[in-house]
Amino acid sequence: MGSGTREWGRAERRRAFFPFLLSLFGLVLSEQIRYRIPEEMPKGSVVGNLAKDLGLSVHELPTRKLRVSSEKPHFAVSAESGELLVSSRLDREEICGKKPACALEFEAVAENPLNFYHVNVDIEDINDHTPKFTQNAFELQISESTKPGARFILGSAHDADIGTNSLQNYHLSPNDYFSLVNKEKLDGSKYPELVLKKPLDREEQKSYYLTLTALDGGNPPLSSTAQIEVLVTDANDNPPVFSQDIYRVSLKENVSPGTTVLRVMATDQDEGINAEITFAFSEADQITQFGVDSRTGVITVLSTLDFEEVKDHSMVLEARDGGGMIAQCTVEIEVLDENDNIPEVIFQSLPDLIMEDTELGTYIALLKVRDKDSGDNGEVTCKLEGDVPFKILPSSRNTYKLVTDGILDREHTPEYNITITATDRGKPQLFSSIGVTFRIGDVNDNTPVFNQASYAVHVSENNPPGSSITQVSASDPDLGSNGLVSYAIVASDLEPRTLSSYVSVNTQSGVVFAQRAFDHEKLRAFELTLQARDQGSPSLSANVSLRVLVGDRNDNAPRVLYPTLGPDGSALFDTVPRAAQPGYLVTKVVAVDADSGHNAWLSYHVLQATEPGLFSLGFRTGEVRTSRALGDKDAARQRLLVAVRDGGQPPLSATATLHMIFADSIQEALPELSDHPTLSDQQTELQFYLVVALALISVLFLLVVILATALRLRRSSSPTTWDCFQPGLCSKSGPGVLPNQKEETLPYSYNLCVAQTGTTEFNFLKCSEQLNSGQDILCNDSPGALFPLCNPSESTSHPVSFLKT
Ligand SMILES: *[C@@H]1O[C@H](CO)[C@@H](O)[C@H](O)[C@H]1NC(C)=O
Ligand SMILES: *[C@@H]1O[C@H](CO)[C@@H](O)[C@H](O)[C@H]1NC(C)=O
Repeated sequence: MGSGTREWGRAERRRAFFPFLLSLFGLVLSEQIRYRIPEEMPKGSVVGNLAKDLGLSVHELPTRKLRVSSEKPHFAVSAESGELLVSSRLDREEICGKKPACALEFEAVAENPLNFYHVNVDIEDINDHTPKFTQNAFELQISESTKPGARFILGSAHDADIGTNSLQNYHLSPNDYFSLVNKEKLDGSKYPELVLKKPLDREEQKSYYLTLTALDGGNPPLSSTAQIEVLVTDANDNPPVFSQDIYRVSLKENVSPGTTVLRVMATDQDEGINAEITFAFSEADQITQFGVDSRTGVITVLSTLDFEEVKDHSMVLEARDGGGMIAQCTVEIEVLDENDNIPEVIFQSLPDLIMEDTELGTYIALLKVRDKDSGDNGEVTCKLEGDVPFKILPSSRNTYKLVTDGILDREHTPEYNITITATDRGKPQLFSSIGVTFRIGDVNDNTPVFNQASYAVHVSENNPPGSSITQVSASDPDLGSNGLVSYAIVASDLEPRTLSSYVSVNTQSGVVFAQRAFDHEKLRAFELTLQARDQGSPSLSANVSLRVLVGDRNDNAPRVLYPTLGPDGSALFDTVPRAAQPGYLVTKVVAVDADSGHNAWLSYHVLQATEPGLFSLGFRTGEVRTSRALGDKDAARQRLLVAVRDGGQPPLSATATLHMIFADSIQEALPELSDHPTLSDQQTELQFYLVVALALISVLFLLVVILATALRLRRSSSPTTWDCFQPGLCSKSGPGVLPNQKEETLPYSYNLCVAQTGTTEFNFLKCSEQLNSGQDILCNDSPGALFPLCNPSESTSHPVSFLKT
């Protein structure tokens, strides 16, 4: 600028000297005409009096025709005054740009004589341009880590003017952090440099707004401003920071993989990549069960957690920003127990058999319960299901004893299926059951039991020896040999020595055999005590009585007790008073039959009589009565042959002969007895009977003849009489009919009771007519009684008893 100023001063001086020189040297100097004008003069402004400076007078002007010759006519010459005038706008910056000196050179031409004059017009700068920034606002990024003293070149402003009018200075709005230094380039242009005075902290203030002012040196100076925004850029000066140092979370076990556990949060005050945080588990930890999303910090479960395996997980999680700074936090995950394990029951010992005589409270088995869960989820209670004679008692922790709690009976329940249920206290409760079968062992606790309380069997006498008569059977519900029954005869009312000759029993089958033929007449009944014994140890036995009733067969013929021959073989006589009335009881045939029942039911029949019709014989009673009075023709001595028949099938019979003597006293009878030697007696009797029979036949014939004659007479007078005489028509009223003789149905009830003792035999016969009542006679045959008790229901019976030797 100093040189510019100098030039300005020289031009001024030239301009001041120029007219003077011109006048001195005339035409010689005419070529050196020089003017100096400021730029931007208005059109028509006078630059200088050219004519005068050329030495031309005003008068000469019209002839000389002074004018400017130029391609670009910036100037014109006034024809009247010869002054040089500005004819167009003169902008120095346009014409000369940044050149320090700006001169317009042209020729002035004068005619008559033609002369050329060289004119030089210097155009001086005026401060017509303001300094201009290329932008109104600038942005400057400065890292916060920049040290104080650092310089930043700012955008410069431009001023078209030159010299002092050009840009001279920059100013910065006052602030604490920045200052400005004006710098000059080699070409002389100025530029501003920003200097950092103090360290910046982006985290404190992110930006600063400064105003840069450019000033030129004009008078007055012109200025313009530009806004500078200083953006403090981030330096990775902050590590990431977790929102918590320790993250604690509780998580139920068995959460499905993929479940979000928690989200860790970390912040970084830096920005951009420096604040870009990525998360990862610390390498050292070898975490496999959890995963972390490196961007979001969300921790998820990768595989199922098991409380029973690991209860607590502790992990170190790192957050790393883009600048590589690291922060760490601890994640603690507590796994909460879920009731996911079923309690178990385990039998520690199991017996093969439980004997049925096991006492109450006997220890049977030990069982353990197990639940891998903890707390309430692992607290197990044990229960025995159902109604069984066992119970469980807690023994020690999680151990139970199974003991008997009732009476065991193998025969009733041979085995028990017991179920033990273990239940924990979790929510929901879990349980499991175990079933075991306990077999009950047999003990010989059951006595054999006979199928009947007592047995009675009827055996007909004369049975074949060795035949089976009955079978007894006893059952024993015990097992094996405890229930294996054998039979024996242990007692009887028979003579012990003879017992084995009577009966025997098969030990296995209980079949009772008769060892001999029984005789009803000797032994009507006997009683055995049979024993059934099992093979247990000790064995148990039961007794039963077997009563053998020997049935009667008609094997005994009736035996006549009276009349009998005397001890010397002589016959006994019954005396009948001569004056005996009809119906007089002469004697009684007494017979017995060792059989019983029908077999002993005797009937009496007359086979032969000395005087038929003189005596009647009671059919059942055997009573001999006179049926009419004794006549003169009747022999004093009478004989009656009587047959005694029993009711058996076929009947058996015996005969008896009765001797009767009609006499009023023994003395009278005696001769009769002695007169008749026993040897000839039978012959005379026979003869007597023949005579009697002949006489009877004769009488009968006579009777028939008489009867026939009478009937004939009756028929001739009344023919109907003969009809009635035919058999069957009038039999009811026929006088000769004897109904009692023909009757088969017995009008008598009877009974024969025989009691036997070892030495003496009593036969007790009792018969009664029971025509009215038809009642049976009760007969109690008790072995202890000497005489059996027989209750007749009629008082009209005639018991006769006697001793038989
Ligand atoms: C016990 O269980 C077994 C097998 O399930 C079965 O055969 C038997 O009948 C059961 N016994 C009882 C007494 O329930
Ligand atoms: C069975 O009878 C025998 C002989 O009389 C006797 O010794 C035994 O005690 C009886 N047994 C029972 C169980 O009654």
